[in-house]
Amino acid sequence: MDKKRLIIGMSGASGAPLTVEVLRRLSKHPEIETHLVVTRGAEMTLLSETDVPVETLRSYASVYHPIDEIGASIASGFFRTMGMIVVPCSMKTAAGIHSGYSDNLLLRAADVCLKEQRKLVLVARESPLSTLHLRNLYELSQMGVVILPPMLAYYQRPSSVEDCTRQTVQRILAQFDLDDAAYEWRGMEKL
Ligand SMILES: Cc1cc2nc3c(=O)[nH]c(=O)nc-3n(C[C@H](O)[C@H](O)[C@H](O)COP(=O)(O)O)c2cc1C
Repeated sequence: MDKKRLIIGMSGASGAPLTVEVLRRLSKHPEIETHLVVTRGAEMTLLSETDVPVETLRSYASVYHPIDEIGASIASGFFRTMGMIVVPCSMKTAAGIHSGYSDNLLLRAADVCLKEQRKLVLVARESPLSTLHLRNLYELSQMGVVILPPMLAYYQRPSSVEDCTRQTVQRILAQFDLDDAAYEWRGMEKL
């Protein structure tokens, strides 16, 4: 079976459990080869927000790429992928992608997605958002990037943080048609 490759970039915004759940869910898709790259900021948030050691996170991915390895496969447009999810995406990483300032492997991989016109999804997280953040995100959206902030849908009546995480991960994976149909919204009448 020819596997489809999907890049997962994790940066240092709040939301480390989202990355863990995305990778855990994708590991159940044998047809998908995940390529993970984690910033140093993200290693800190992983430590403060989860009990998952970075080694365990790495083991959930098919391939793990060190952040400074600028010659890695995912740094080249010749390496075909479905695209990339940056989850979570800090405002610093969003600014780096926006400006094309690719001084680490995550930023370079995102830059490759832009230049090759591949799907790029940013799970951008900050609160409140400054005018500068909003300008960067708006202009990224104009470049075809999907801006998918981890926002709650109260109508789904989440009863735990884990529920909220699952809800957001469902939306993220739906961008690549990899979500679980069991969670599909079937309208008010089905409540
Ligand atoms: C616990 C913690 C939570 C943070 N949450 C956010 C956040 O939600 N959004 C954000 O843009 N930056 C956040 N930061 C700051 C970023 O980690 C910091 O700007 C870092 O330099 C980002 O670098 P990176 O994008 O290369 O990971 C947080 C930092 C820590 C330690």
